[in-house]
Amino acid sequence: MPGVRSGNFKVAVLVSGGGTNLAALIKSQQEQQLGPARLCAVIASRPQTLALDRAKAAGLPAAVVSRKSYPSQAAYDAALLQTLAVYQPDLVVLAGFLTRLGPDFIHHYDRRIINIHPSLLPSFGGSGFYGLRPHQGVLDYGCKITGATVHFVDAAYDHGPILLQKPVAVQPEDTPELLQARVMREAEWIILPACVRAIAENRVLWKDGRVYITKQQVQPD
Ligand code: GAR
Repeated sequence: MPGVRSGNFKVAVLVSGGGTNLAALIKSQQEQQLGPARLCAVIASRPQTLALDRAKAAGLPAAVVSRKSYPSQAAYDAALLQTLAVYQPDLVVLAGFLTRLGPDFIHHYDRRIINIHPSLLPSFGGSGFYGLRPHQGVLDYGCKITGATVHFVDAAYDHGPILLQKPVAVQPEDTPELLQARVMREAEWIILPACVRAIAENRVLWKDGRVYITKQQVQPD
């Protein structure tokens, strides 16, 4: 079929911490649920993260590129670009990557970077909303619905065209920790692999600056 990507759509995953979203991607690939997408590399912004252990256990090439090793954002972007150039990824997935990316990096991978965030954006997103904080914010406000969002990345933090969202109900007994765990289990680990698959299968329609997942492949313009 025209437009089908032939079997090897390479996906690099950028991580900073626990790597449970990376684990969900690895599991999806092992269960042949990622379509033509293949995880090709994991880059961590910190050494000794659980995410790196998960990458190594899965046999994925892994590297550490720490922001504090570079004098400027531009130098950090250049180092990340150089590290990724070896793998030539078709898509870069920010899976709990908490280090800011600069314009050089974002421009290079224009429309080819997605991020997962543990709230229904634009609520409870942006700098400062990481870890338990989005969930604490949801509980403090008394929201009854939260969830997770996958979006394409632009220059602003937790910002860019939304690709997929999944709601999760807030329960009276929720703590930030309970809510975080449920949002991961019921939303994040489901929608991130689904988005990677849709992109790899060429089922993403860009229209007037917005994006939509389609059932059928999108024909090139
Ligand atoms: C996830 O909840 C992800 O949505 C969040 O960091 C966590 C990483 O967990 N990302 C952000 O908050 C981005 N603003 P993980 O390392 O176990 O996948």
